[in-house]
Amino acid sequence: MARIGVIGAGYVGLTTAACFAELGHDVVCADVDEGRVRALRRAEVAVLEPGLTALVERGLATGRLRFVRGNRDALAGRDFVFLCVPTPTGGDGAADLSAVHAVLGEGHLLSPDSVLVLKSTVPPGTADTVADVVDVPVVSNPEFLREGHAVEDFLRPQRIVVGGPAARRVSALYRAEGVPVVVTSTVGAELVKYASNCFLAVKLSYVNSLAELCEQVGADVEDVTAAMGLDDRIGTAFLAPGPGWGGSCLPKDTRALLAAAERAGVDFPLLGAAISTNDHQPHRVVAKLRDVVGPLEGARIALLGLAFKAGTNDLRDSPALAVADLLAAEGADLVAYDPGVLAAAGLRVVESAQDAARGARALLVLTEWPEFAELDWPSLAQDMSDPVIVDTRNLVPPDKVVEAGFRLVGTGRRNP
Ligand code: UDX
Ligand code: UDX
Repeated sequence: MARIGVIGAGYVGLTTAACFAELGHDVVCADVDEGRVRALRRAEVAVLEPGLTALVERGLATGRLRFVRGNRDALAGRDFVFLCVPTPTGGDGAADLSAVHAVLGEGHLLSPDSVLVLKSTVPPGTADTVADVVDVPVVSNPEFLREGHAVEDFLRPQRIVVGGPAARRVSALYRAEGVPVVVTSTVGAELVKYASNCFLAVKLSYVNSLAELCEQVGADVEDVTAAMGLDDRIGTAFLAPGPGWGGSCLPKDTRALLAAAERAGVDFPLLGAAISTNDHQPHRVVAKLRDVVGPLEGARIALLGLAFKAGTNDLRDSPALAVADLLAAEGADLVAYDPGVLAAAGLRVVESAQDAARGARALLVLTEWPEFAELDWPSLAQDMSDPVIVDTRNLVPPDKVVEAGFRLVGTGRRNP
């Protein structure tokens, strides 16, 4: 059992703190947000992460998990201190490390025999720079948590990556028998995180452009990607076209790696192309809708899905919101339904797909919530005039929606 401090109680920090407590460690989790700390002391978890609330409840009940406001108690007297503070996109696309530096300003509170662990996604070279300003070893230990699967990904990781001195002491905290541990340099561990996320982003932008080509040549992207995925060098994961990739990581990490490459004097056109391809997707969705509905000014459009992906309530960098902004700019009359999202700034959010469809000209499927594949299509069609579905996720059953009277426009497919 180790004494662990976690700085930052967001998706990453809270999952880290609760899971380490579950593994038997003594954890103090600090956050600057008083309201968040008070809520967490009542085991009120704002993020939609299966299993996380139960872990927080258990940690509080056993006394292995405590929440504090301010970093002091999570820095002093701890064997390991994990930094899980935000590293958002800064002005030039590079990661903004001000939150990391703010914690370092209290670095004097660290016990001499403790280890500082950078779990926040930081540009290659950050840990080495941090090591110059603190008197303890600094280890890079990036997270590979997928939203909606964060607890599973933490407790049953596919790999543990650590870099720097005391790396193996950090990897031993996970007690994950049989899980590959990659011990590398600090800069190597920092780069693995960006390299992995950016590769996923490139793969997604590739399939989104492939879908656009399929539409023009009359191929079905679902058939093409299924066949591609049978090659185990390619695999089927992350080959589903959509309205673009979003979330708090891929958009931030692609821009941060591109900025880091530029700073290192390395031209990385593939990454820039993946970003610009992604920026194009919401425009493609709106054009597709305009083609089938006509002028969008005053047209009532029902958005099915707002979160950046299914299984989460996270709206950060959601492509659905980018589409909504473009539609609103053209004067469309928007109403939205998302099973995980009850409110979104500037949007009318209702409580069911039926409520959203009422009087709408078109349904626009933007988030791959499974329930959107099993709606009551005849009932929805009855509440719409000349009903249309634009499905950016190829989720809805074509035969059923056409039978119910909808015109269907999919992604990368011939329209039935
Ligand atoms: C974020 C980034 O998404 C991730 O890429 C990075 O590796 C870690 O930070 P996330 O947990 O999603 O991860 O951030 P968020 O949900 O915004 O939570 C950050 C928490 O840190 C907030 O509760 C905030 O109040 C807190 N915080 C922020 C501090 O405690 N101290 C600070 O100085 C800044
Ligand atoms: C990502 C990485 O997957 C994870 O390993 C890392 O630790 C954090 O960033 P996350 O941000 O939760 O996780 O989202 P992810 O599941 O990767 O999805 C990213 C975006 O790609 C979403 O908008 C999703 O809808 C989209 N996506 C994903 C597709 O459009 N098609 C796919 O086939 C898969």
